[in-house]
Parts: sequence; structure tokens; C-alpha cells
Amino acid sequence: MGKRKEILLTGGLGYIGSHTAVELLENGFMPVIVDDLSNTTENVLDGIEKITGIKPVFYPFDLKNKKKVKEIFSKHPQLKGIIHFAASKYVGESVEKPLLYYENNLCPLIYLLKQALSYGVKNFIFSSSCTVYGQPDKLPVDESAPVKKAESPYGNTKQIGEEILEDTTRAEDIQVISLRYFNPIGAHPSAEIGELPRGVPQNLVPFITQTAIGLREKLYIFGDDYPTPDGTAIRDYLHVVDLARAHVTALQRLLNKQNKKKFEVFNIGTGKGTSVMEMVKAFEEVTGKKLPYEIVGRRPGDVTAVWADTRLAEKELGWKAEKTIQDALRDAWRWEKKIRKSR
Ligand code: WQD
Repeated sequence: MGKRKEILLTGGLGYIGSHTAVELLENGFMPVIVDDLSNTTENVLDGIEKITGIKPVFYPFDLKNKKKVKEIFSKHPQLKGIIHFAASKYVGESVEKPLLYYENNLCPLIYLLKQALSYGVKNFIFSSSCTVYGQPDKLPVDESAPVKKAESPYGNTKQIGEEILEDTTRAEDIQVISLRYFNPIGAHPSAEIGELPRGVPQNLVPFITQTAIGLREKLYIFGDDYPTPDGTAIRDYLHVVDLARAHVTALQRLLNKQNKKKFEVFNIGTGKGTSVMEMVKAFEEVTGKKLPYEIVGRRPGDVTAVWADTRLAEKELGWKAEKTIQDALRDAWRWEKKIRKSR
């Protein structure tokens, strides 16, 4: 095996980033990880090493620092691609702190692109979100659906990020794939890496597992008066390992120049909608744990239902989710039990 191609992974110690680092290593690449550790811990590196036998190089840098961004590229002048995960990601927090979100989610993107161009790095994968669709008019939602006015500064930074990237591909020698994630859940089956929510979990599945392990008294279900079969909101939940694999597939598409346009967008979901109540029931079945919950009012900003039309990713990218909701909930629960023991 020749020297591994180096791929810059920003936010590479985060939830999706760390799972992608594992998939890159298992596909013969060498991730170069940058993470400011604002929403993770450095010992995620040990988890990556335990799974793959390799401990990637890691820089604890804040990408809002232009000098640090330059330092990474001067130390790694042969990067073959960039996968940009690093961003603040909490919808609610973005409403309270819009400038933190606009600065942290957009300035690093611009600094990375400028260095990429000066070092001739031509392949860029962007972490986007189904949030850009808002409440779609038609379900399942496909990539041609209109991007609606964002309901939060967080969602807006994803929309603006895609516009910055598309404009840059028009003017410069760089090609981009933007992956619009639906709802990532679960953990690596080894339970060596997984989600590490800061404080009270915002997202459904970590709140479920923390309730099941006794950290939370009960799950609060935000609304059962939606126009859906059981009244609770519907999402497209996909296993984080499937999502990580989509990044490797997208990177290989660019490296092999199989992309049809310089700026491409793909929905990364399962194509299946699942309600909150169905997730609760599935968790109880998979784990045998009874989950205490209480129905409360709707959460502001939540959409009723969104799930992906996955045909473009299947046909063009050659990627399809393989793991089930049950796999993801089983892996999430195994991870929750593991970290509670070690804490
Ligand atoms: C899922 C469903 C809640 C918690 C967000 C971002 C998205 C992406 C994923 C970053 C909703 C309900 C949740 C709880 C509940 N993040 N819920 N009780 O809001 O679909 O997506 O996270 O990229 O961009 O928008 O995910 O997990 O927060 O909520 O009833 O304690 O679970 O109302 O219907 P969401 P979520």
C-alpha cells in the first residue's frame, strides 16, 4: 500500500467527525484532525486508535484563527481533500447567540477555502443539513426542493455555507459535495466512540438513552398534536456509521472525478420517516427497558415531518443506508452503558 492520501478533517473529534475518521482509516486514507475541543474531548482519539490501530495526527486549533489555519496547510502541503465538520450545531443556542454562530460557522469556512486554493486542494466535502428545507411542501424531500428561509441562525449558516461554496466552485479550481444530513443517531458498534452531548442533550436519542440509564427522570415528548398518524413529529433517523460512510463515498467520487458538476448536493438519510413515539417504542423493544415519558408542548422551530428522497445518493453517489433504526438504538444504548461505567 503506497503512502496514505492525507485528508483534512475539521471537527474530526466530534460525533460525526470521529466516525468518519474511522471509515477513512479503514478505507486507506490518513485523516489529519483539527478540533477546538469545544464540544468533545481529546480522548476520542484513543477510541479511534482502539478501533483502527492508528492514532491520527491531531491539532487542537480554533479555525477562527487564520494563522492556525495557515499552519495546518504548511505542515500538510499534500492534502488531497477536506471534510469540514467543524461548526456550532445547536438550533436553540443559535437563536440566543446568532453572532457566535455566524462567526464560528462561516469565517473558518472562508479561511479554509482560501488556504485550499493556495495549496491546490481541489476536493471539499461540506457538512450540511436537512434543516435547509424547513418544512418541505412535498415528502419525501428531494435535492431540488426549494431552500426555505431558515428557521434559525444555525440553519441559515448551512444555507449561506452552501452558497459560499457554490460561488467559489464557479470562480475557482475546486469541486464540492455538500451532504445534507437528516438525523444522525447511534454509535460505533464497538462502543469505543459515540455521541458526547454537552449538558442536557438537545437531541432525542441521547435524551432517551440518558433517561433509560437513570440520568434523566423522564423523556419529555415535545408535542403529540401534530398532523401525523400518532400526533408526534416525524424525522429520518440514520445510523452515524452509514453517514460516515457517505463521506468516504463522496470523497472517492471527487478524487476519481466522477462528479457531474463542480458543486453537488446529496440528501443523506434512510428515506424512511419515524415518529418520536415510534422511536420510544423501538427503543423499549430493542433494550427491554421501559421508558418513562411525559407529553409536553411543542418545541419552537420544530417542523412536523421531514424525511429524505434518497434516490439521487443511491443512483449518483452509489450510497444507501444499510443499518436499521434498531441497530442504531442498540448501538446508542451500548455506548451509553459504556460511558456511564467509565465516568
Ligand atoms: C427530533 C424529534 C423533537 C428531544 C436537529 C437539528 C438538525 C440536526 C439534528 C444538526 C423532534 C423530538 C427531541 C426531546 C423530543 N442537528 N424531541 N424530546 O430537531 O429534528 O434536528 O438535530 O445538524 O439540524 O435541527 O432533532 O433530535 O432535536 O429532535 O420530543 O427531548 O424529537 O421535537 O420532533 P431535530 P432532535
